Amino acid sequence: MSGQAQIGVTGLAVMGRNLARNLARNGFVVAVHNRSPERTRRLVAEHGEEGRFVPTESLADLVAALERPRAVITMVKAGAPTDAVIDELVPLLDAGDIIVDCGNAHFADTRRREEALRKQGLHFVGTGVSGGEEGALWGPSIMPGGSAESYQKLGPLFEQIAAQVDGEPCCRHIGPDGAGHFVKMVHNGIEYADMQLIAEAYDLLRTGLDATPAELAEIFREWNSGELESYLIEITAEVLGHTDASTGRAFVDIVLDQAEQKGTGRWTVQNALDLGIPITGIAEATFARSLSGHAAQRAAIRHAFAGAEPTWRVEKRGAFVEDVRRALLASKIIAYAQGFDHIRAGSQEYDWDIDLGGTATIWRGGCIIRAHFLDRIRQAYDEQPDLPTLLVAPWFADTVRAGLSGWRRVVAEAARAGVPTPAFASSLSYFDALRANRLPAALIQGLRDNFGAHTYRRVDRGGSFHTLWAGDRSEVEA
Ligand code: 6PG
Repeated sequence: MSGQAQIGVTGLAVMGRNLARNLARNGFVVAVHNRSPERTRRLVAEHGEEGRFVPTESLADLVAALERPRAVITMVKAGAPTDAVIDELVPLLDAGDIIVDCGNAHFADTRRREEALRKQGLHFVGTGVSGGEEGALWGPSIMPGGSAESYQKLGPLFEQIAAQVDGEPCCRHIGPDGAGHFVKMVHNGIEYADMQLIAEAYDLLRTGLDATPAELAEIFREWNSGELESYLIEITAEVLGHTDASTGRAFVDIVLDQAEQKGTGRWTVQNALDLGIPITGIAEATFARSLSGHAAQRAAIRHAFAGAEPTWRVEKRGAFVEDVRRALLASKIIAYAQGFDHIRAGSQEYDWDIDLGGTATIWRGGCIIRAHFLDRIRQAYDEQPDLPTLLVAPWFADTVRAGLSGWRRVVAEAARAGVPTPAFASSLSYFDALRANRLPAALIQGLRDNFGAHTYRRVDRGGSFHTLWAGDRSEVEA
């Protein structure tokens, strides 16, 4: 006989615990399990009154507590621990049951697991969940992959517990097998780019204006009421405004300037390289984190080039702040345009049929990159689903056009002053490359043909050609 719980959660570290609490608070009966039962007991002792939990002490008990078809969320570490839980769960389940992986798994692992479980009659649903601990508790953005059939069971639960924007849940079925984890991966890539751009804006303002973190917090607070309005800008103001209790100094000044990463940004870039999609902003952001961690190299260079620092003071402060704001917005548009290109390419490559506007819709709330801006992306894809790039959608094109001269000034000033702006500068180059009439790629083709007879195509007729460089330099059709 099957039990009464509508869903099970195994893995009750903070994310799993908060998801379970969110489900229970929303009226679902949730069976809960953790490898060490102490956590399960604590959850029920501390939050039992928030809803209906069914505490269990083994995976067999967890499965027995569930109504059919059974759905078990695993919220354990990506990699081997996820495989271990799956291996333990599978013999306990029956055809039609569902395992939901809400961790940050690599989508290729999700595809492999989905295929293996499908062969055994089970559904495996890799689900991206964004929003951190608070999001998991009060309303995350949820990106489930897996079969359409599994979404019939999971959809009503997930849509209920997700963040809601304008009456719409920040959850939708993304597509089959690994589509959900793929979209979450790109979300994180965009998150990296967004944060790097914000950090560059901060660095430019701080250096150029010689302003204190508290003064900069004010600027970000103001920006948060305009086109840049977003969760990340909001918390930038919060972090910059924070004072370290033990030293009385600005918090940002007592934090080591070496950014870490768990790997999702790197995965995004690796996959984009495979698919041939230039997500340059995300790549620069990922490399900027790596660079920051190379402390010994940084010290060596600082030592070797000591004293060479240019001095820089901005004269027209207000105009400079506005230029940086526009550069940030334009570069951010590039990052999102690249991220959505990546999703479209992944969708084609893996045959997922992902709705780009729908993806923007569920990123409007709950997730780390949530922003008003996402509504515009949704609109752009609603109006023209086959947009060649977000950059040509009217609002985005107008905004880039309006910001272009400021963006150029900022990148040029930064280069003159020696302030690193890898993401601002590479985003501008990306834009300039896309709009160029002729790219120097023609010369590259010439070189390839010269040293390796790799052939080239001509502007004036079809076919592939090779010049006999070592011979009489006549041209032959390849
Ligand atoms: C989210 C976040 C989250 C991610 C952290 C840390 O959407 O809630 O993306 O999933 O784990 O942001 O990522 P890094 O350690 O790679 O910066």
